[in-house]
Amino acid sequence: MIRKVRFVEPAKVYRMIKDELDAAYFDVMSKGDLIDRSQLKTFEKHLAEYVGTRYAVGLNSGYDALHLSLRAAGVGAGDEVIVPAHTFVATCSAVVNVNATPVLVDVARDFNIDVDKIEEAISPKTRAIIAVHLSGFMADMPRIMEIAERYGLVVVEDACQSLGSSINGRGAGSWGLTGCWSFYPFKILGGYGDGGAITTDDIEVDRFIRRMRYNGEDRETGEYHGHGFTCLLDNLQAAFLDVKLRHLPAWIERRKDISEIYQLGLHDIHDLLLPHYDKPGFDHVYQNYTVRARQGNAFSEYLKKNGVEVLTQFRKPYYKHKALNLVDRGFSETEALSREVCSLPMNVEISDDEIAYVIRTVRSFYGLS
Ligand SMILES: Cc1ncc(COP(=O)(O)O)c(C=O)c1O
Repeated sequence: MIRKVRFVEPAKVYRMIKDELDAAYFDVMSKGDLIDRSQLKTFEKHLAEYVGTRYAVGLNSGYDALHLSLRAAGVGAGDEVIVPAHTFVATCSAVVNVNATPVLVDVARDFNIDVDKIEEAISPKTRAIIAVHLSGFMADMPRIMEIAERYGLVVVEDACQSLGSSINGRGAGSWGLTGCWSFYPFKILGGYGDGGAITTDDIEVDRFIRRMRYNGEDRETGEYHGHGFTCLLDNLQAAFLDVKLRHLPAWIERRKDISEIYQLGLHDIHDLLLPHYDKPGFDHVYQNYTVRARQGNAFSEYLKKNGVEVLTQFRKPYYKHKALNLVDRGFSETEALSREVCSLPMNVEISDDEIAYVIRTVRSFYGLS
């Protein structure tokens, strides 16, 4: 029988920390604490501390975090915003949905925006750069901040895939005007449903986003400051996330250990590019372990057929979807990696036996023992 290695197993994580999650559930349920109660405030405090910012505001999703960040920055019609050509579509949709124009820029070998190509995409209309930190590895923030300062641009960090990563000890989500977080279940800090947040050092941004998540209302005065949205982080999710956040430092260490085991087992395969980069000071937390296999679909299909669940995000770049109506200026690195990407199972619930099975299966595809 073919063995199955799942990409993630939320039920297994639940069993690992069942007592703590059950206690959080009992606390919320027994008090009837459903919307914007102490559990949300506590989680926001702990998230801000963890990221290294003054404030954190819990939201419905990572998309909301991006969308409200752009609104907080005053980005709107007539503005251009630079976004990477290789990212989850939500990064770009947030720009379109504030009536601004996304200007796409190709990525580099580490899957993040190619900093050398940012300046040629800047025009007099450019207002902001969304720096995406993909898979647990940060975009080059020192250089991006330097460019943004020189051109007077706002920087928003799409850190949805990189909670816990850092450059020279400074955390993802603490560099730009805001850091945007997703707690979608597959994320490094995944909830039991959708969730998101922003982090910021700017008290005005904190206040603006707190009001916007509550239909524009200042909850203390009852005054509406504009037309807003209903997009608070659910209180029960906040309670669960607070439990999981306590485990995150140890879980990141486990992810790093797994990445080393993969590296040891796969480094001699010439047709496989592994996600280990020589960038001193950059700390990879391995939200995803995304390899590039020259054999593309043949490789990923072989793994699936042999019971290894993998993700191939994204075979078709988002700007190739006609209905999105985006300008394809030709992004050679994005197109090459899109044919080759394959994320292997990477999570804290995977066993050593399962990791060994993944490695054996990859090697057998290449005819190696
Ligand atoms: C890079 C990136 N940006 C934005 C998002 C949007 O987050 P959400 O699904 O919580 O809206 C995600 C995750 O799905 C993501 O990976």
